[in-house]
Amino acid sequence: MKWPVRAPSGRFAYVNGRYLPHGRAGVHIEDRGLQLGDSIYEVFRAEAGQLLDENGHLDRLERSLTALELPMPVTRAALRLILRELIRRNRIRDGIIYLQVTRGAFRRDHPMPEGLAKPTLILTARAGDLAGAAARLSDGVKIITLPDERWARRDIKTTQLLPAVLAKTAAKRAGSAEAWLVDGEGFVTEGGSTNGWIVNAAGTLITRPLSRDILPGVTRGVILSVAKEAGLAVVERKFTVVEALQAKEAFLTSASGAAVPVVAIDGKAVGNGRPGPLTLRLQALYAGKSGSGQS
Ligand code: PDD
Repeated sequence: MKWPVRAPSGRFAYVNGRYLPHGRAGVHIEDRGLQLGDSIYEVFRAEAGQLLDENGHLDRLERSLTALELPMPVTRAALRLILRELIRRNRIRDGIIYLQVTRGAFRRDHPMPEGLAKPTLILTARAGDLAGAAARLSDGVKIITLPDERWARRDIKTTQLLPAVLAKTAAKRAGSAEAWLVDGEGFVTEGGSTNGWIVNAAGTLITRPLSRDILPGVTRGVILSVAKEAGLAVVERKFTVVEALQAKEAFLTSASGAAVPVVAIDGKAVGNGRPGPLTLRLQALYAGKSGSGQS
């Protein structure tokens, strides 16, 4: 059977031990990831055929699995080989590798099936939109703000992404690339699929500290460490939308874009409305740091 997914020929996906043509790859209709959102995921970036921040993503994968009492579907060493094989088979130089682990297929019932471990492991890969990504890094993006309506364990990278889907759809319809989600007290938690940063008048970098309120972004961690190594002033604390509007610079971090400048929030320019010098410096510092596998 051919699944109704269009794909350029020659593209491969990985499903439970097999590399399949992308258009024919699928999971069981009673997979708990599909029915219950009972699954977690990771997104890796490849540049020049090499995975960026690989260890950070594998560490977070293990943390997400542990939080949901899911086993590692294969050893970490095997996973490294699968990632490389998928990059090779898809002839990816620059692109995104998506990985998802679900609890597997069972008769539909909410409680976890006790003692039965048969996780589903799927991976897909796609070449990146390099022109678009480069434009976002050099020109910056506009964002909007919206209430954060997600659940209370945002530190786990689950596929329960409906609040992010709604927020990012609203952003797109408003001509923006991201929505910053705001907690009940007016503080920005993070973006729909990115971590958020500002630079205040004193030139201090500010980002929300890790807690259950945000995803511990791998790129966030690398940016923090390169900023500290470069001797920049960095504070991990909450910031409000009002503070962000008064900031000199703002930017987003994620695997799909390290230090993407934010040039407008809710239609108001950030700083002079152009990517800020510190943001551009962090892009360069990140490029020098996020080596293949070892960061
Ligand atoms: N998103 N916060 C949220 C809610 C995210 O979904 C992501 C990643 C990040 C940044 O994390 P990292 O630096 O490890 O990519 C922060 C991925 C890219 C996605 O969902 O496509």
